[in-house]
Amino acid sequence: MPSRTCDVLVIGGGIIGLVTAWRAAQHGLATAVVDPEPGGGAARVAAGMLAAVTELHYGEEELLALNLESARRYPDFAAELTELTGRGLGYRRCGTLAVALDSDDRAHLRELHALQRRSGLDSQWLSGRECRRLEPMLAPGVRGGLRVDGDHQIDPRRLASALVDACERAGVVFHRCWAERLDVAGGRAAGVTAADGTRLGAGTVVLAGGSLSGRLAGVPDDLLPPVRPVKGQVLRLTVPRRYAPFLSRTVRAVVRGGQVYLVPREDGELVVGATSEELGWDTTVTAGGVYELLRDAHELVPGITELPLTETRAGLRPGSPDNAPLLGPSGLDGLLLATGHYRNGVLLTPVTGDVMAALLTGGEPPRAARPFTPERFGAALLEQPA
Ligand code: GLY
Repeated sequence: MPSRTCDVLVIGGGIIGLVTAWRAAQHGLATAVVDPEPGGGAARVAAGMLAAVTELHYGEEELLALNLESARRYPDFAAELTELTGRGLGYRRCGTLAVALDSDDRAHLRELHALQRRSGLDSQWLSGRECRRLEPMLAPGVRGGLRVDGDHQIDPRRLASALVDACERAGVVFHRCWAERLDVAGGRAAGVTAADGTRLGAGTVVLAGGSLSGRLAGVPDDLLPPVRPVKGQVLRLTVPRRYAPFLSRTVRAVVRGGQVYLVPREDGELVVGATSEELGWDTTVTAGGVYELLRDAHELVPGITELPLTETRAGLRPGSPDNAPLLGPSGLDGLLLATGHYRNGVLLTPVTGDVMAALLTGGEPPRAARPFTPERFGAALLEQPA
């Protein structure tokens, strides 16, 4: 078995692994991250909506509380990261407009509005005309919408780069390699064997491998987190200066049952997402995926077809059985989980960092995180080795 070389070893250098490592190092823990490409992963694809209110779903009130807790932390989190690294994050408090294209959509949005109001959330119903007054590029057929000024955005690529930088400044060591297997000794996680054969020992291992978290060799089968990949195809377009401002806030809708959203960055990038496909590890960008996104986005904002299409990409969301993250003890001594963030990884980054720091230092995690321990998925994940 490897000798202990660090206090905390984080498997996965996506935004969740990075924020965990950064916060751990800030607390004085000797911390390492194992990942072939820190700052990569789903954040390279994600649009970065911070959409606690417009992505509210029935039955997800506890997740709403966690999402809101993280949204509340965002201003200070972003300011701290920017001050420390000197990097902009594209954090834009622009609000969101969720619109309806036909009477079915309008009925659906009315129900969402009622749910939002019952949950004490700030959301304002607008007529189609009022929507177009706010966003003149919207299609004339828009039938109404919800104005949510509290749902913002950040650029996840900039966020990931800033977190890598912050980790380096805090003394986090990066092993740029895949984690091949978890090493277990004496009934507890002892470290990781990397793909290059290096053995990395640690007092505590944090599994933050995104959609890959459910298949790390060495984790006992009955303790593997129930995380699966959910593919999302995303497009990036560019708004030429002469068209600016094309959109001033995030615009989204449910079209033919699928989500479509347009997220305008201050630098002229316009992100259009996203498909949601259960296709295992496939990350192919398909003609059908691009077609559907452009078709639906065009129904919302017809002028989109004038814009240069600059990038198409697919990523894998780490889906969990209840669409919520797994934050806490895995059931194997010495192994913590920070995974399964599904559609909310970017939004949940600040609170996840604070939850994991508390768990790693014997502190008290925020109350809103209590429902999200892995033990909710069954007794098997609770069993502690003798
Ligand atoms: N949160 C947006 C998405 O997962 O597509």
